[in-house]
Amino acid sequence: MKLIDGKQIAAEIKAEIAKEVAKMIDDEDENPHLAAVLVGEDPASQTYVASKEKACQSVGMLSSVYRYPAATTEKELLDVVSFLNMDPEVDGFIVQLPLPKHIDENKIIEAIDPKKDVDGFHPANVGRMVLNLPAYVSATPFGIMQLLERSNVETQGKNVVVVGRSNIVGTPVSILLSRKAKTANATVTLCHSRTKNLKEICANADILIAAIGVAEFIKGDMVKKGAVVIDVGMHRVKSDKTKSGFKLIGDVDFEEVSKKASQITPVPGGVGPMTIVALIQNTLKAAKKEIYG
Ligand code: GUN
Repeated sequence: MKLIDGKQIAAEIKAEIAKEVAKMIDDEDENPHLAAVLVGEDPASQTYVASKEKACQSVGMLSSVYRYPAATTEKELLDVVSFLNMDPEVDGFIVQLPLPKHIDENKIIEAIDPKKDVDGFHPANVGRMVLNLPAYVSATPFGIMQLLERSNVETQGKNVVVVGRSNIVGTPVSILLSRKAKTANATVTLCHSRTKNLKEICANADILIAAIGVAEFIKGDMVKKGAVVIDVGMHRVKSDKTKSGFKLIGDVDFEEVSKKASQITPVPGGVGPMTIVALIQNTLKAAKKEIYG
């Protein structure tokens, strides 16, 4: 069994980005700028946004965070989006999800200018991705695709099983892997809570992507010997073995599944670092006007 080291691969990509950013600053005096909007006090969201800021700084990009209280109204947030759409200093921005319940997330996402939608959540970017047109691809699926590519995982003609059909991960990654493209051309099965015979379907996967959001859902008997396993889950659970009293685990029972897989992503240090780096890559594309010209 080989670990797919997302931290290492992300570090390699970051080094490549840092070089490009330095060149842009030298040649054009342009410094890519990512803005993040954070509404409320959700601890996980605060951690994610802090990681995104840190990653920008580590490659020499500018970053700014717009923080608003949980009581912010939908109208106020729409005004912030509108402001960022027009701000020439900002190349791309994200609105961190989840938003407080009284705000319609879809309404906010649809208000973002697709040219600045580095999360790739706007219907225009999702549609363009489906049609294989240049698009911002959302960070986790984009990160997974690069993990597979840089780990030399063959996808052509392989059986890929994706467990979980979220808009952010399961659905887009299933589309990306079934497209006619170099790191794709797979036969993809998208499973969800209503899927029958889930165990049998998973056990037929050459590549299994777990994005169901349930801790240690994928057990050893659901995995074929030699399969490649990508764990998208991230759950903070109590542990008496760590100093902090907590540990991070994924959607895959690592102990059991690592005995069967040929390659597997750890949690933490697998998909997580790739998600952050993919967002930075999208921001660079925004600054270089690569998608929309
Ligand atoms: N919440 C969890 N993941 C994400 C993400 O990739 N982008 C945004 N905006 N919010 C998230």
